[in-house]
Amino acid sequence: MPQKKFYITTPIYYPSDKLHIGHAYCTTVADAIARYKRLAGYDVFFLTGSDEHGQKIQRKAQENGVSPKEYVDKIVASFRHLWEKMSVSYDDFIRTSEARHHEVVQTIFQKIYDQGDIYKASYEGWYCTPCETFWLERQLGEGNCCPDCGRPVELLKEESYFFRMSKYQDRLLAYIEANPDFIQPTSRRNEMINFIKGGLEDLCVSRTTFDWGIPVPFDTKHVVYVWFDALTNYITAAGYLQDRGKFAKYWPADIHLVGKEIVRFHSIIWPIILMALGVELPKMVYGHGWLVMEGDKMSKSKGNVIDPLVLIDEFGADAIRYFLLREIMLGSDGNFSRSALINRINADLANDLGNLLHRTVNMVGRFNGGVVLAPEEREAVDEELAKLAQETAAEYERAMERLEINAAIKGVWALIGRANKYIDETGPWALAKDPAKRGRLNTVLYNLAEVLRIVAILISPFMPGTTPRIWQQLGLAGDPAAATLHDAQRWGLLPAGTKMTAPEALFPRIEEKDEAESAPQPAAEPPKPALPQLPEVSIEDFAKMDFRTARVLVCEKVEKADKLLKLTVDLGGEQRTIISGIAQHYAPEELVGKDVVMIVNLKPAKIRGIESRGMVLAAVNGDKLAVVTAPGMEPGSKVR
Ligand code: ME8
Ligand code: MG
Repeated sequence: MPQKKFYITTPIYYPSDKLHIGHAYCTTVADAIARYKRLAGYDVFFLTGSDEHGQKIQRKAQENGVSPKEYVDKIVASFRHLWEKMSVSYDDFIRTSEARHHEVVQTIFQKIYDQGDIYKASYEGWYCTPCETFWLERQLGEGNCCPDCGRPVELLKEESYFFRMSKYQDRLLAYIEANPDFIQPTSRRNEMINFIKGGLEDLCVSRTTFDWGIPVPFDTKHVVYVWFDALTNYITAAGYLQDRGKFAKYWPADIHLVGKEIVRFHSIIWPIILMALGVELPKMVYGHGWLVMEGDKMSKSKGNVIDPLVLIDEFGADAIRYFLLREIMLGSDGNFSRSALINRINADLANDLGNLLHRTVNMVGRFNGGVVLAPEEREAVDEELAKLAQETAAEYERAMERLEINAAIKGVWALIGRANKYIDETGPWALAKDPAKRGRLNTVLYNLAEVLRIVAILISPFMPGTTPRIWQQLGLAGDPAAATLHDAQRWGLLPAGTKMTAPEALFPRIEEKDEAESAPQPAAEPPKPALPQLPEVSIEDFAKMDFRTARVLVCEKVEKADKLLKLTVDLGGEQRTIISGIAQHYAPEELVGKDVVMIVNLKPAKIRGIESRGMVLAAVNGDKLAVVTAPGMEPGSKVR
């Protein structure tokens, strides 16, 4: 029988900031599914990557004073580093800045244009740059905010190409209705059906006010809208243009795993692009929930992010993966808390799993010189344990096929719990003291080792670093990576005569004492003291203000005004007169010769009959004031 294929994707992440543990949640889930499918014998293609174009990234690069490419290169390197630390076993990492992807985006844009599904018009409306999303006036939240992220939207007015989404509305609806698995979970599916029934507008698919993107092939002052570009990554990486054999093998994708806020892009825009291309639709778009802290979505803009690298250094990647997979029901939001993480580590990993392994390896060492001998006398309790192990492995497969990851894990831990109880019930210490009970002792120890062999295989998709450590302590031969789900579903594969190694703690307990002493979890970005809430300005808004250094040539008091000084400054090319309300903080002669910072294109104002052109900047706090200076800078230097 030919090997069945399985193609799973995560979203491609914006390299606009460091990733937080919420982002790592999605790759961890996808990795667990990918590893499970490999264990079950599938030929898996697991894709992740970076979504590098668009206005947001261009602005971030500008703010950092580097080119967009330089900017993203550095952040993308940090993504790969994190995925490596998290043991994310992706098969390909796609960057939308790669040539293979440009070729695909330009080709499909041209094709859809040629067939008349893309047309030129003019866009006037709202745009959320952090989400890279167009919004209709009626969709906006309070105070003209993005209904998704709550940040202020911007008004755009520009010539654009539009994609005729409306034409495909009925076909898409029919498809969703005929394919109940296409959008999962069901709550998301219902949301999308309602959204489509509300009417689809044609989508703006090009921009002209910045250039960090893929040029529209037939009109190069336009760049392709970043979501049109980004979604296409899923076929680029599968070989749509460059490797037809690969594409035929892996496409359609089996699962696009995405966060719930971007299900709309994946289950409406993306399928319509594919319909326009005549390409088969993905089998499933699965919208997972958010990692929240005290009910609030973890996100950079809220300042409540947890850096996964800090957690990995402290607790290890497997403990964090276990927590995310065990604690959160796929599809629902889940709360992240340090104390819940520590509880899981202590109870499930150090206690249940760690003790089972430790007790087993320890007893085999003490009673049988480290060698697992063949089972001899059997009792009902042994049959019960063996039966539970087999049922667990079978139920695990059913749960994983339904993407019920935490149910699968719970099942494995029920088996671990049963095995720990089996030790207490059979009392190997007592058996070891009685030479007549040797046969019985060998059976008990064998069964414990066998349960651990099965457990080691079943947890490998969740804790890939732990499996080899258990394998090694059990003294099993061969590479645990070569073990299959089938091996976990059969009882008795552990060879008699296996020689165990010395016991070693798998997961040390996190002591409460250490906990109290250690500093609170350092957030990557600690919450700032509240600042007055002014509306956000864009970099373009900021760029409208001309800040420069100015050398003070002359400074004198303004008659009958005890707060005002009159300054004559040199701006390089010209001299200006400025009135400034700083007389109570500076004697006139103190300022002469200083290189101050001023805004030069401020609308002139008449103060005490004198025209003031520009304003000197000063830091103010209560009744303290200090003029901002740039000592030694040439007069007229740009400040930004
Ligand atoms: O949306 N909990 O990228 P992105 C769980 N580039 N998941 C979270 C999360 C949280 N607190 N915060 C973020 C984009 N995520 C686009 C995708 S795909 C063609 C383009 C998840 O970097 C979020 O739900 O903003 C999303 O699935 C993923 O991180 C990437 O988010
Ligand atoms: Mg996002």
